[in-house]
Order: sequence, then C-alpha cells, then structure tokens
Amino acid sequence: MQTSRFEQALRTATRVAVMTGAGMSAESGVPTFRAKDGIWVKFNPAELANINAFMANPQRVWEWYEHRRTIVGEAKPNAGHLALASMERYVERIDIITQNVDGLHQRAGSTRVNELHGSLLKHRCLDCGADYELGDDEHGVPHCLLCGGLIRPGVVWFGEELPQDVWARSEDAAQNCDLFLTIGTSAVVYPAAQMPMIAKEHGAFVVEINPDGTDFTPFADLSIRGKAGEELPKLLKMFAERT
Ligand code: OAD
Repeated sequence: MQTSRFEQALRTATRVAVMTGAGMSAESGVPTFRAKDGIWVKFNPAELANINAFMANPQRVWEWYEHRRTIVGEAKPNAGHLALASMERYVERIDIITQNVDGLHQRAGSTRVNELHGSLLKHRCLDCGADYELGDDEHGVPHCLLCGGLIRPGVVWFGEELPQDVWARSEDAAQNCDLFLTIGTSAVVYPAAQMPMIAKEHGAFVVEINPDGTDFTPFADLSIRGKAGEELPKLLKMFAERT
C-alpha cells in the first residue's frame, strides 16, 4: 500500500524537498553528532557551540572549527549527494534544506541549497556583521578589517535564531512540495525538525532514509532503512525511468 503510494509519488512529483542531516555526509567521512563516535559525544556543545563559549575562549572554539574545516576540506561529496544533484535533471524543482554546514551539496552540484545552520566555510564579524574572507593559510581568530571586531564562524550556535530568509525559503519548499525526503537526521533539533511535519501537514508524501529509526519514523509515510549513499542512487534510477 505505502509502496504503491510511493511509486505514485515518484511518478507524479514535480516539486521535491529534501531535508538532510549529518548522516548525509557520514559516507564522506564527516562525523555525525549523536552516534557513539559522534561529535557531541566527545565534545560538549555547551562548551563549544555557543556565543558564551566563544567570548570566554575564542581561540579554543576557533581551533575546534578549524579542525572541522580540515575534515570537510578533505571530504568529497558521496554517491548520495551526487544522486540528489543529478535528480534535478528529472524533477521540475528540488529544494535542499540542510542542517549540515559542510557545503557538500553545493560541491556535488545541487543548485537550491538552504543552509539552515549556516556554513563552516563562511565567516563574519561579531561586532559589525561584515563578511570575512578567510585565507587558506590563516590560523587563529582573525579580526575584522573594517572595525577590528572578532571574526566568528558563520554557523548557527545553540541559543541563536536560524537565518530568517533561509527559514522562509525552506518553509515554502516544505509547504509546496509533493514529495519530501528526510535523510540522515535524528530529527531532534528544533526548529529544523519541524520541516518534515510541515510538509506532511501540507499533503506531501514523506519518506525517511536512515539506517536507524528516529523520532520522526512513526510519522513518515515510508521509512527506508538504509544509507543515503546506497538508497539515493536507487531513487535517482527510479526518477530517471519515470515517463
Ligand atoms: P545526528 O548526529 O543527530 O543524526 C545523524 C543521523 O544520521 C542519525 O539518525 C543516524 O542514524 C543517521 N545516519 C548515520 N549514517 C547514515 C547514512 N550513511 N545514511 C543516512 N543516515 C545516516 O545529526 P543531525 O540530525 O544532523 O546543529 O543533528 C542535527 C543538529 O544537531 C546539527 O545540525 C547540529 C547538531 O547539534 C547545530 O550545530 C545547530
């Protein structure tokens, strides 16, 4: 029953929205947050990913982000990222809503990427908000060229609001898609975790792709237990074969 509704959704979907989380990049070698070897198991978010931590010890927080930038710099988009980018050939519009800050969807070639939690690859002044272009060989916390303020990573920290324009575009995508995919996220961090529910309430067929169950699994129209890098190429093939 669900499978045939899924096949129908695949055949007829013109707008697809995709929400991704850390599991999307796991096969690229970027660690997730909550797995046994995940980032938040080794590091406490309260000590690193918030403004108070940065103000108390900018250098320490900066080094942690430098470490994550190095991992991401060495990573390559995996078969899942590439399949999502290729799907754009077969679907009128695909909006990606990502919680990831690694830029791998863009590197894979996806054209509409909404970074709900910002980007590891962008930086701005804590005081005046001006963007800062970080040099490849730059180490240590830089200062703003305009006002001398501290430069901070362009990610959303705990306790901060999501970028309003990105949220509005993501909400629009969730409300107006026929098919919504939620991939590689434990769906516990709000408000991002609202997205699949918004899509469902607006009538989209919602598919979850994850090797494990999540808080959202009971609400998914279909739950595919598998890895993004293996399941998305299969989905791409189905899109390519639809007439
Ligand atoms: P989590 O680490 O909470 O969840 C990763 C999910 O990916 C889990 O449900 C895994 O089962 C799944 N997973 C692992 N390998 C996978 C694979 N190969 N294919 C598909 N799924 C796989 O990461 P997020 O849900 O992204 O926020 O975490 C959400 C937010 O929590 C992050 O954006 C970050 C963090 O705190 C901020 O920093 C603001």
